[in-house]
Amino acid sequence: MAELGHDVVGIDVDEAKIDNLAAGRSPFFEPGLDELLGNGHGRLRFSTDFAEAEGARVHFIAVGTPQKPGSHAADLRYVEAAVQSLLPYIGPGHLVVGKSTVPVGTAARLAELVEPTGAELAWNPEFLREGFAVSDTLSPDRFVYGVRRGDERSVEVLDAVYARPLEAGTPRIVTDYATAELVKVSANAFLATKISFINAIAEIAEVTGADITTLADAIGYDNRIGRRFLNAGVGFGGGCLPKDIRAFQARATELGLESLAFLDDVDQINLRRRQRVVDLVVEHLDGSLEGRGVAVLGLAFKPESDDVRDSPALDVASRLAARGAVVRATDPEAIETARKVQPDLDYRATVDEAIAEADALVVVTEWRQFRELDPAELATRTRARLIVDGRNCLDPEAWRAAGWTYVGLGRP
Ligand code: UGA
Repeated sequence: MAELGHDVVGIDVDEAKIDNLAAGRSPFFEPGLDELLGNGHGRLRFSTDFAEAEGARVHFIAVGTPQKPGSHAADLRYVEAAVQSLLPYIGPGHLVVGKSTVPVGTAARLAELVEPTGAELAWNPEFLREGFAVSDTLSPDRFVYGVRRGDERSVEVLDAVYARPLEAGTPRIVTDYATAELVKVSANAFLATKISFINAIAEIAEVTGADITTLADAIGYDNRIGRRFLNAGVGFGGGCLPKDIRAFQARATELGLESLAFLDDVDQINLRRRQRVVDLVVEHLDGSLEGRGVAVLGLAFKPESDDVRDSPALDVASRLAARGAVVRATDPEAIETARKVQPDLDYRATVDEAIAEADALVVVTEWRQFRELDPAELATRTRARLIVDGRNCLDPEAWRAAGWTYVGLGRP
């Protein structure tokens, strides 16, 4: 927002986060973000004090909506707390903008809190991807504004906030609260379904000897299908797709609808792929992992991120360890975040350290560093000759030619 020319104060209840941000350090790994924080243009401050919101006219709510413990529904307590904390500082002429991913119906409920102050509420879902957050924010695919019927002023305010990307031609859709909320969760449910679709076909490919990568290339040439998000492998994770499909289905059930029951299959297919990777390692190590060395390459839920929330990679590492394997895991960015949630795993700073005593290598996050490993050279640094490619990101021919047993997911 500061980069787009606005005076910004960022508020959070987490002091450590605010201290880091104030010192120009992003509290997580996100390419390009530290540079932007450094720029700041003198228009960017951070605080833990809600009173700092006093002078602002537009108030973005961007807090998390994690999965509720013991339930599939979204936990709205942080959104509700943020809106409540803001109420003393908003009034006529102010706009509160919801960015958080929420169950349909939330905005209408929050509007009942906001409107008595004289302020307006808009719901403006966020579509950025981790790893591309900066470019997705500065030049997004589209804007969606969910506003109260007839509320043209909020549209004007948001147009002014986003003037630069709008001038660059970013499409914008103005709609009601419910549609805006549903656009967000539908987009993520569609992406998750696309990934689980190709992973379900990968299961068929595995028993029939077909090649899922060639199949994805072939169906992907059909523009109606498209090749993106058709990479079969260990499946989706992260702080969004898994919890969003669960919360979406939970909300449909609350509404008395079975329409989204298929999302349960999407979830199950996805989780099965993690176990499949473990099973493949067991199978190729002659049925037992007890005492066998396994180097796990990757911990983050995807490359260019240090996020391990619901990470298939970290899950596979834990499952392998639980089966008795001597797991040594590495990742270019996610070791510290992984250590916080799984302190017992053996983390190694480099691929060399992870593979030194290994009988098998497992690639579960397709970092460039791993995709570009030279199979012949690697064979001189480990006794392992088995590589399980949980992301189908390596060239099977090259690895086999260098003497490795290459095992992909849904690939012969
Ligand atoms: C996702 C959406 O892509 C964003 O549009 C959305 O804004 C965001 O959630 C959110 O709701 O905040 P993100 O969680 O950053 O973004 O990650 P994705 O790039 O969607 O990847 C999700 C997972 O799917 C990763 O684990 C990735 O490895 C996996 N994936 C992706 C596959 O297994 N196969 C593919 O073909 C693509």
